[in-house]
Amino acid sequence: RQEIVSASIETPAQLEEFRIGYVGRKGKVADLFAGLRDVPAEDRRAVGQELNELKQLAQQRFDEGKATMEQGQTSDVPPPLDLTLPVVPKELGARHPLSLVRDRIVEVFARIGFSVAEGPEIEDDWHNFSALNFPPDHPARDMQDTFFIERNPGQDNDIALRTHTSSVQVRMMERHKPPIRMIMPGRVFRNEAISARAHCYFHQVEGLYIAENVSMADLKQTLYYFAREMFGPQTQVRFRPSFFPFTEPSAEIDISCGLRQPGTCQICGGSENICKGTGWIEIGGAGMVDPNVLSNCGIDPERYTGFAFGMGIERITMIKYRISDIRLFSENDVRFLQQFTSLG
Ligand code: PHE
Repeated sequence: RQEIVSASIETPAQLEEFRIGYVGRKGKVADLFAGLRDVPAEDRRAVGQELNELKQLAQQRFDEGKATMEQGQTSDVPPPLDLTLPVVPKELGARHPLSLVRDRIVEVFARIGFSVAEGPEIEDDWHNFSALNFPPDHPARDMQDTFFIERNPGQDNDIALRTHTSSVQVRMMERHKPPIRMIMPGRVFRNEAISARAHCYFHQVEGLYIAENVSMADLKQTLYYFAREMFGPQTQVRFRPSFFPFTEPSAEIDISCGLRQPGTCQICGGSENICKGTGWIEIGGAGMVDPNVLSNCGIDPERYTGFAFGMGIERITMIKYRISDIRLFSENDVRFLQQFTSLG
């Protein structure tokens, strides 16, 4: 009894110690109760009563101690929330620069009547190569360029990741009758070493216009319009003769890049990675759809002609926002992505 009365219960630890020592099922009071068995029968009643008092005393001290401690704590509770304070601003994400540019491309072409189409990223040999006039031994089919998923040597049914969006061209010509006026943005894959200028996957936007009397002049005017809308009214466009199996004639498309001195380029910010100081930056390939390709896709080449072009969306974005390393697009570094917050 003396112990119970004099025990100091001032901290939570002491309270707990007291509980274990006197209140709990393994405490001293409980021990005494267990000893009741050995007390002679005639005394048991009196002793039992005393023990009950002891138990109540212990419980009482415990309850009091607990109450004081809880009371003490209420003084630490912070004052109620100040609802007049301004809210903490919520962090919004940014749209990815490639999405921004893709949507801008779609918008520019929509104004002159181009709709948007898509196709699969896993393609068969026919849509990625054969229908587009690639001879069976063309180097682009080589392992070095193409990620094959399934190879069936000697047959036309290899399955691969598409190496360009021209495969969607084929799908659209097979499915639709002219006039066809579409752009086809999408991801493409090539087995290339990753560097500041090249990646094993990137994005292209294909354009296709098939109708009666479509000419090279229409192609040039369309791309000229696009370049000025995308890069500003001073932009010039240059066509360099080139070769693609699916277009004839074919051209490489360059746009002017401001000043010709390395390091002072107005468009790409002088990055050697993009313009190399030549004054011109290549943004894609183009040409008149080869008559063979038209007939491969069930379109009468006697009646219809058309043009096609394919441009790299990364390249266009790099020029537009002066980005010097293509790897930034896929690294998801927020310091890079956050710079586009205000543009979305
Ligand atoms: N598919 C070509 C490439 O990936 C680009 C291109 C598209 C060229 C359409 C001409 C016409 O390099």
